[in-house]
Amino acid sequence: MTSEAGGRVVALVPAAGRGVRLGESEPKAFVTLAGTPMVRLAVDGLLSSGVVDHVVVVVPPDLIDSASACLPDGVDIVEGGAERIDSVRAGIAAAPDADIYLVHDAARALTPPSLISRVVAELRCGRAAVVPALDVTDTIKSVDILGNVTGTLKRSELRAIQTPQGFDAELLRRAYSAATPADGATDDASLVEHLGERVRTIPGDALAFKITTPLDLVLARAVIAAAEAKVQ
Ligand code: C5P
Repeated sequence: MTSEAGGRVVALVPAAGRGVRLGESEPKAFVTLAGTPMVRLAVDGLLSSGVVDHVVVVVPPDLIDSASACLPDGVDIVEGGAERIDSVRAGIAAAPDADIYLVHDAARALTPPSLISRVVAELRCGRAAVVPALDVTDTIKSVDILGNVTGTLKRSELRAIQTPQGFDAELLRRAYSAATPADGATDDASLVEHLGERVRTIPGDALAFKITTPLDLVLARAVIAAAEAKVQ
């Protein structure tokens, strides 16, 4: 099923990070969960949501062949860059015909398709920028370079932001043409915020957590094992 009638939805999957925090030998997106590379799981989730017309995966230059061996036919694979911003920019350039972009980290490999379709539904209702958000459970403090606390942020006003982040395509292109690595952006919505445009949150999903550390990997593998045990 595609959604072209309401505008073409292209999902960009930045998967060109080295993922050193995970402590594995291969780049994070190619680490396997129950035998399947994370990037494949992320792409499968997007395709099974039924709301994505096309997927572009952005990988390190030396892993183009590995990516094409593990991804489904029809998925475009392009070379990423040194920073995440460079990788997403390469994805945008590879899909100039999009009306809506979703930007979805390969590291959020267990994201439920229902979250993906909720993001797109919100965009179809006229929002220009939509991000999934979860309440924060830790207390968040700012610190200086010596590790001294400089402030405590009000937890009730904080949210942990996930992907996929969804955007009107023209807005995201504008945000990326204004963006520079000096912005230090760690997500796409912050570039849209820099333009002064409104970004809307919707409820996120705990399963869309970013697999970043060895402990995250243990959790992800346990989630898959529990789901498989349920099926048997
Ligand atoms: O480093 P971080 O955890 O924020 O990376 C988020 C996502 O961006 C990951 O899926 C990673 O592969 C991707 N990335 C990228 N190109 C880079 C750096 C990160 O595609 N140069």
